[in-house]
Amino acid sequence: MAPMTLPTPTLHTGRLRLRPLVADDADDLFALHSSRTVQRYWDAPPWEERARADQFLARCRQVAEDGTGARVAVDRADDGVFLGWCGLTRWNADYRSAALGYCFSEAAWGHGYATEAAGAVLRWAFDTLDLNRVQAETDTRNVASARVLEKLGFVHEGTQREDCVVEGVVSDSWVFGLLRRDWLPSAGG
Ligand SMILES: CC(C)(COP(=O)(O)OP(=O)(O)OC[C@H]1O[C@@H](n2cnc3c(N)ncnc32)[C@H](O)[C@@H]1OP(=O)(O)O)[C@@H](O)C(=O)NCCC(=O)NCCS
Repeated sequence: MAPMTLPTPTLHTGRLRLRPLVADDADDLFALHSSRTVQRYWDAPPWEERARADQFLARCRQVAEDGTGARVAVDRADDGVFLGWCGLTRWNADYRSAALGYCFSEAAWGHGYATEAAGAVLRWAFDTLDLNRVQAETDTRNVASARVLEKLGFVHEGTQREDCVVEGVVSDSWVFGLLRRDWLPSAGG
């Protein structure tokens, strides 16, 4: 069967607006992904070239056209400031599963924004797709990300030992899974 386009949604939460990424987001994306602090537990080195932002945007469009996911920009609703992005990838209609990812700028940390944004994306996904399972992986040093997943109802399922090597540093990853029956629709706000 030919792949089906999956339209990227615009979503509103109490404090946030989630919307499709656009070309004008390239500078904010580059600032986010070139920050060594933001990227310290990422599974790849920080970006060095501005062109990486355009490639990321092209990949987001491709994922939407292939129908394999949806990534949204996350803006603060009251002043429109770009906080980061959140999204689903690896949507597999046969397995009814997908992967969750997110990245927020350092200035936005500690306000519950990641949990609020991911909660909205999950609510949309469970409402829109015949989705049963969402997986997320996080570096075992990334306690804040693990906490976000726990707050959303994800269950820690195991550890992938030494599965990432970034700039010579070997790290382990935790695997988390959220099943439809675990899903707490009130999570995130
Ligand atoms: C991980 C990340 C998304 C968290 O964003 P955030 O908006 O600060 O997350 P929230 O405020 O919703 O929740 C963070 C939780 O972690 C806790 N936390 C943060 N740092 C912590 C630490 N060092 N130790 C223990 N808990 C910590 C917070 O207290 C909060 O939990 P609480 O609500 O129970 O108090 C953000 O730091 C980020 O984008 N980092 C860079 C990119 C990244 O690592 N993405 C994930 C890749 S898997």
